[in-house]
Amino acid sequence: MHTLPEYHKFFSDFLKDNIQPKSPTTLYEPISYILQLGGKRLRPVLTLLTTEIFGGAYKQALPAALAIELFHNFSLIHDDIMDAAPLRRGKPTVHKKWNVNTGILSGDSMLIESYRFFEVYDSDIFLKLVSLFSKTALEVCEGQQLDMDFEDQKEVAIEDYLHMIEYKTAVLVGAAMQMGALVAGSSNQNQEAVYNFGRYLGIAFQLQDDYLDTFGDPKTFGKQVGGDIIENKKTYLYLSAIQNSTTEQKAELLHYFSTENLLSPVEKVRKVSSLYQETEADKVTRTAIENYTDKAFSILDTISISKDKKEMLYNFGRDLMDRKV
Ligand code: IPE
Ligand code: IPE
Ligand code: MG
Ligand code: MG
Ligand code: MG
Repeated sequence: MHTLPEYHKFFSDFLKDNIQPKSPTTLYEPISYILQLGGKRLRPVLTLLTTEIFGGAYKQALPAALAIELFHNFSLIHDDIMDAAPLRRGKPTVHKKWNVNTGILSGDSMLIESYRFFEVYDSDIFLKLVSLFSKTALEVCEGQQLDMDFEDQKEVAIEDYLHMIEYKTAVLVGAAMQMGALVAGSSNQNQEAVYNFGRYLGIAFQLQDDYLDTFGDPKTFGKQVGGDIIENKKTYLYLSAIQNSTTEQKAELLHYFSTENLLSPVEKVRKVSSLYQETEADKVTRTAIENYTDKAFSILDTISISKDKKEMLYNFGRDLMDRKV
């Protein structure tokens, strides 16, 4: 086993060696740009870590880890277009720095490129990896579409929201971990368990993302704070606020999220985030983050791996809950 910073380094080096700028630069420069901005590398690190947890060597998992990270970055370029987001990882988003068309095609190319990294695996593993990847990628698209649909939908049930974030975010975290187990040749039972661990952690992760989008520190968050409010996103904060509001507060919230709202984006963010605090939606969201992290931890108890390895996954989950970025 290695430390998390070591897995991070192994992955960054592999990425640098395998993603080279090519011609036409108008297609490939935006790809290098977004990849160089880094990010947490959460998913590929999880792939490498999981491989070693199940007795494989991290090197075997590097191509699968890169496929996952390329897919993730492709989804971010397109997501930023769909969310009209100006900032990503503290820098202008691809469609702001270049334009929307560039974002579309560079994103598409990354998706295609991601599949090519599975070509190094033997046919049995290759088939399993590609099948899991395609199933997951389609679910991400479904989740993304629901996220967009909910912007214009007046009533969204918490249950529907949870389904939406499970698809747009959590399944990819689950798949990143399952791929690690798959590459290591671990049992179907272990694959399933670790997938579900990642899935629950991914739900907690998206809840935390929603929380930070409103309550994160603009100096460190790297994205536009308040972006979800500006875009009328039906986040866990919004849905909890609606649930725990007085008749007046609810009317106010519905008004701000309607086409009748005439406030400037800055004013809207100020008003809505106050309402999130007054209704204690912030606290309810924090509790939900803890609950989903605990659900992930309870799955850990069912996997037969050493105490040290469980400890690593446990600490990983704890750190995610406390993240500021
Ligand atoms: C952002 O993912 C998109 C979500 C699913 C919330 P990350 O928060 O993992 O983004 P980076 O890769 O670290 O920038
Ligand atoms: C992103 O959800 C999910 C995917 C990219 C598929 P968000 O829209 O909340 O992600 P951020 O906040 O822009 O990173
Ligand atoms: Mg989005
Ligand atoms: Mg977004
Ligand atoms: Mg977000």
